[in-house]
Amino acid sequence: MKVASHQLRCTQCSAGIAPETVAADFRCPLCGGLYEVIYPWSSTAVQTSTRTPGTVMPDVRLPNASALRWLWQERRTSTMAVDQSGVWRFRDLLPILANPETPVTLREGNTPLYDLPRSAKALGLDFLLAKHQGIGNPTGSFKDTGMTAALSVALERGFEWVACASTGNTSAAMAAYAARAGLRSIVLIPEGKIAWGKLSQSMDYGAITLQLRTDFDGCVRILNELIRRLPIYLLNSVNPYRAEGQKTPAFELVEQLEAQVPEHIIVPGGNLANGAALGKGFREMLHLGLIPRVPKISVIQAEGANPLIRSFMENGGETLIPVTADTRASAIRIGNPASFRKAVQTIRSTGGWTAQVSEQEIALAKAEIGAEGIGCEPASAATLAGLKKLVASGHITSEERVVLILTGHTLKDPEYTIDYHRGSLLREDELASATLAQLHLHANLRKPPAVLDADTDAVLRTMESVLQTPIPA
Ligand code: F0G
Repeated sequence: MKVASHQLRCTQCSAGIAPETVAADFRCPLCGGLYEVIYPWSSTAVQTSTRTPGTVMPDVRLPNASALRWLWQERRTSTMAVDQSGVWRFRDLLPILANPETPVTLREGNTPLYDLPRSAKALGLDFLLAKHQGIGNPTGSFKDTGMTAALSVALERGFEWVACASTGNTSAAMAAYAARAGLRSIVLIPEGKIAWGKLSQSMDYGAITLQLRTDFDGCVRILNELIRRLPIYLLNSVNPYRAEGQKTPAFELVEQLEAQVPEHIIVPGGNLANGAALGKGFREMLHLGLIPRVPKISVIQAEGANPLIRSFMENGGETLIPVTADTRASAIRIGNPASFRKAVQTIRSTGGWTAQVSEQEIALAKAEIGAEGIGCEPASAATLAGLKKLVASGHITSEERVVLILTGHTLKDPEYTIDYHRGSLLREDELASATLAQLHLHANLRKPPAVLDADTDAVLRTMESVLQTPIPA
């Protein structure tokens, strides 16, 4: 009899299956739902319903919270790659590999937690932090934490090809990890709709990069056809092993806060997998006694790519209302998100919120995060823009502790930043909806580059004129 380290459980109908029997599209054959990975110690563990005869989940013994805390700290001083990885350092809670000591790793995770004093002050908050998943991760986005996990599984399962549809960051991460593992990778991206930094990465890491004349949702359709015809391992976020890696920033965050749990976590929403993955991480920590409660997880979308918000407004989140997506925050330009149900479950079960933000509000928030010396890509800035709304509506109060998840590095999309500072990003009609206070902030934050003759006096004159503008407090 084979003892399984984990099983897959449908998040919709709760049916459990043995991992090797999962379909290529990672959908439940009974209801079409998405799976999550469960372990013998999970609160939702399926003990008997595996459909592979002769495979059982072993007896339940909960991992010991203090032993885990000690082990995770010990590994910080190790020189082994698997311990230096900010994902695999927590491998006790993601035992998905037959050979747990040799994952495909690029020392992902270990991302910094910054305070945002100016934004906190402006919002009247005592405690505002940003966990920057774009800094520290090897390809500059949070996708690396999930990719190390799912690509390691692909390698163990003997696949030669891996593939994804992407708005740019998943493809960059997949291409890098596939290159490390010596697997062939194929990337489907919407032509003309992803940031240059991301496009350049998938080429640099040697993926077959195909720009399809469609949007992200169209790329997903083609990819699903492709995996039906060829033995290609799907690495989009429907792959439940991605979430196992993407839950680990929750562990890291709690460590960084010395076992404190913030009241609120705010994520930007695209395909809607990330909030759910972090939620799983917090839920597991609660179940194992590592934390006393879970934070509220809120998801922010761009007004032009808001299927989650529309669905909540029109039917309380019961059914997805897909939209034709359009936003300059190209990472989250997604109209038909695969993990809609998982996200709704996460928001409901944690007591979180949703909010939508305009292009003008995203641009302003991005400039504010930049002015704190941190920077991020546009989709990540939706979190700060959304936080402002949640504070204004009274959903978040001044003494509550908030952590924004900044998902991508500012250099992912330099064109956006340059257009903003040159004043060519936002259209007149977009600026027309801004308040006077917002217009004032834009004017202070925009720093267009000046072109001067090679003349010291000209440089000094420019410095003098800039001295008239006060440095932000
Ligand atoms: N922020 C960034 C920078 C992203 O790249 C993405 C998603 C999100 C937020 C949204 O996360 O999909 O889990 O809700 N990017 C995917 C990609 C879709 O292909 O790179 P989500």
